[in-house]
Amino acid sequence: EITVDPAGTGAEIDDTMYGVFFEDINRAADGGLYAELVQNRSFEYSTADHSSYTPLTSWTVGGTAQVLDDDGRLNERNRNYLSLDAGSSVTNAGYNTGVRLEKGKRYDFSVWARAAAGTTLTVSLKDAAGELASARQVAAKGGWKKYTATFTATRTSSRGRLTVAATEAAALDMVSLFPRDTYKNQPNGLRKDLAEKIEALDPAFVRFPGGCLVNTGSMQDYSEASGWQRKRSYQWKDTIGPVEERATNANFWGYNQSYGLGYYEYFRFSEDIGAMPLPVVPALVTGCGQNRATDDEALLKRHIQDTLDLIEFANGPVTSTWGKKRAEMGHPKPFRLTHLAVGNEENLPNEFFARFQKFRAAIEAKYPDITVISNSGPDDTGATFDTAWKLNREANVDMVDEHYYNSPQWFLQNNDRYDSYDRNGPKVFLGEYASQGNAWENALAEAAYMTGLERNADVVKLASYAPLLANEDYVQWRPDMIWFNNHASWGSANYEVQKLFMTNVGDRVVPSSATGTPTVNAPITGAVGLSTWATSAAYDDVKVTAADGTALLSDDFSGDASKWTHHGTGSWSIQDGAYVQTDAAAENTLVTAGDPAWQDYDLQVKATKKSGK
Ligand code: AHR
Repeated sequence: EITVDPAGTGAEIDDTMYGVFFEDINRAADGGLYAELVQNRSFEYSTADHSSYTPLTSWTVGGTAQVLDDDGRLNERNRNYLSLDAGSSVTNAGYNTGVRLEKGKRYDFSVWARAAAGTTLTVSLKDAAGELASARQVAAKGGWKKYTATFTATRTSSRGRLTVAATEAAALDMVSLFPRDTYKNQPNGLRKDLAEKIEALDPAFVRFPGGCLVNTGSMQDYSEASGWQRKRSYQWKDTIGPVEERATNANFWGYNQSYGLGYYEYFRFSEDIGAMPLPVVPALVTGCGQNRATDDEALLKRHIQDTLDLIEFANGPVTSTWGKKRAEMGHPKPFRLTHLAVGNEENLPNEFFARFQKFRAAIEAKYPDITVISNSGPDDTGATFDTAWKLNREANVDMVDEHYYNSPQWFLQNNDRYDSYDRNGPKVFLGEYASQGNAWENALAEAAYMTGLERNADVVKLASYAPLLANEDYVQWRPDMIWFNNHASWGSANYEVQKLFMTNVGDRVVPSSATGTPTVNAPITGAVGLSTWATSAAYDDVKVTAADGTALLSDDFSGDASKWTHHGTGSWSIQDGAYVQTDAAAENTLVTAGDPAWQDYDLQVKATKKSGK
């Protein structure tokens, strides 16, 4: 029986409660939200980004051409260019299956070229079935100049190829093709279907650009003297200004990031969807599986100054140094930045906090109205988490970013997580969370959990599911909220749950209570797992029971090895009626109904250790 008390006083829920977290993971930016259709447009892909990359990745040369990195380059940050011999051509394969074109739609081509007088560049769009748009001819001559052409697609194809052919020797760089029809028709814009799916969530904030992404090379010197080498720290200043002057960089997730989608575009997108921008800057203590903290005071100072400059870029008047740059890019009005996070999932809480405090002091001294967000490390519990929280609490930090990715069962069992949080301590920004899957039960578990966030809306002030986007052909992390390829996008069940909550944010919680505990006898439709048993053990008579004692499965290992599916790197085998593990890393799944999916259930697994083995 559920009793509801409409007159009771529950927590007030801020309009800003739910937002999105955009990270360039799973090729979420290039080949994703960033609408550019040409892959590796500036010939900058390198083995530093990914072991299989070359400057000609995604390109095919017809005739002869070389990628050069010499004094003839377009500019200091855009190091490589293509030197095409007379009568030669170069063809780009786009992302996924190719360049996506839609019949009747317009596409804007541009290229930077340096060519001898009399050179004609012929630009064509084709797939295996033939022409996708009438070819265009561009007369090029002299030093580096930008040339443009517009196409109207005569057919729809997701397998297009863009070719540039030159009659005379020519140098090419920044070969680009954009749909005219970007989100809100913005130049250097965003892919419409993806941006609209995010907009449909009605997010109150956009956390960006990472995630572990902000830890890319954050320990490295990034002075110009060190060159425009890969794995420079993620620096917002590298991501603004004319796109041809943005140096590309290695992405933490193992590919190249063009920075075409940079800080200006993040701010602009946040504004376009009516969300508050919430950037994350590196704290110079690596998280994400690495444990290092910089002792380079000069480098730290520079990053702190960059963070102050970032706030000026977002909010400063057009007469300020960085506000002027924003205005030059097309946005004289401020972007209204109010929250900023320093750091992401640092494993060294003491080292992180010492540096965080320096950022915080500098920001609060100059911009007292900005909320500076700290974090609690990579876990939802444990010693690092406890130390981080203790430090944050003692220093009266405004807000702490928590992250966790757990089983659906965990989300069901921890609905009360924030009931016991200190009402007078720092507020919580749940910046990343997801149950481990995109199935219905995951979405349902997240929905249940979100009721616990709302019940504690006096403590939990911001929450965002993660990750947001995944290109199905380039996945580093799953589950994800929205999936796509080069021609389609689709929301997961988790997306629908987020949308339901985000587009129906209440004003306050109506207190309710329940009597009795519903009995849950969930049928097992997936798989039951056994893992991390001792090395070289042998087991017999495995029994699997639900939490309420219901017997679900048992196996005496009398010989039917087909019921077991191997996971992990180790090995198990059935020998003489016992289940024998020969490697500590082994994990196995007792499969029901032929469903090999690995899932976690809250089950009791009992096994008898067989003597003599
Ligand atoms: O959301 C994916 C990753 O998960 C983020 O980059 C990181 O912060 C977390 O570990």
